[in-house]
Amino acid sequence: MSIPANHPLLLRIVDDLADRGWSQQNIFLPQGLTAELAAECRERAERGLLEPAGVGRGDALLVREGVRGDSIQWIEPGQSSVCDRYLAIVDALRQTLNQQLYLGLADFEGHFALYPVGAFYARHVDRFRDDDRRSISAVLYLNDRWLPEHGGQLRLYLNEGQTLDIEPQGGCLVVFRSADIAHEVLPASRERLSLTGWFRRRGDSPL
Ligand code: OGA
Ligand code: MN
Repeated sequence: MSIPANHPLLLRIVDDLADRGWSQQNIFLPQGLTAELAAECRERAERGLLEPAGVGRGDALLVREGVRGDSIQWIEPGQSSVCDRYLAIVDALRQTLNQQLYLGLADFEGHFALYPVGAFYARHVDRFRDDDRRSISAVLYLNDRWLPEHGGQLRLYLNEGQTLDIEPQGGCLVVFRSADIAHEVLPASRERLSLTGWFRRRGDSPL
C-alpha cells in the first residue's frame, strides 16, 4: 500500500502543526489495521517482550515508577508485517512533513507501550537534554471502545495555561512538536495500549 504525499489526511496534519503545533486525527487508521496492531502489542506483552520504560537516555536511563508506569518494546522494520505497514504510513507522513514544512526529518523511532491499570506518565516534554533530534511526536492509540470514565487521557499543556484532554481511542493519532508541548498521561481504570514514536532530525556531526 503506498500513500500519496498529498493525501488530505496528511495535509491536515501539516496544516495543524503549522498553525498551532499539534494535531488530533480521530480516524487515522482503518479499524482492521488498528486491531491488528493492538493484537501484535498484546501478543508481545504476553510473550514477556515489553519492559518497564526508562526515563532519560543511556547512562541517565532510570526506571522510576513515580514518573511513568508503562512497559514498552521498540519496533524495528522487518519484525512483523503489521508493524511494517504502519511504518510505511508513518514514512509517508514524514515525507509530507519534510516537503511542506522543510523539517528535515531523517527517521522515525517508535515503541509499543502498555500502561497497566493505574499507571500514568507525569508531565514531561519529549526531548532529552543530551539529544535534541526528536522533533515531532506521533502517538497512535490502540484501544477498543474507550470511554471517558476509563481515564487514561493524554493531557496536552497548550498556551496560556490551557489544557486539552484526548481520549486514547483506537485509530486516533496525535502529532505534536516534541520540544514545545508538555503533556502527561492520566491514570486509567483499564489497560491502555499505544504505539508512540518520534520523527528525528539528523544529528549534528563534524564534517
Ligand atoms: C510518551 C508519551 C503519550 C501517550 O511516551 O512520551 O507521552 O498518550 N505518551 O501514550
Ligand atoms: Mn511524551
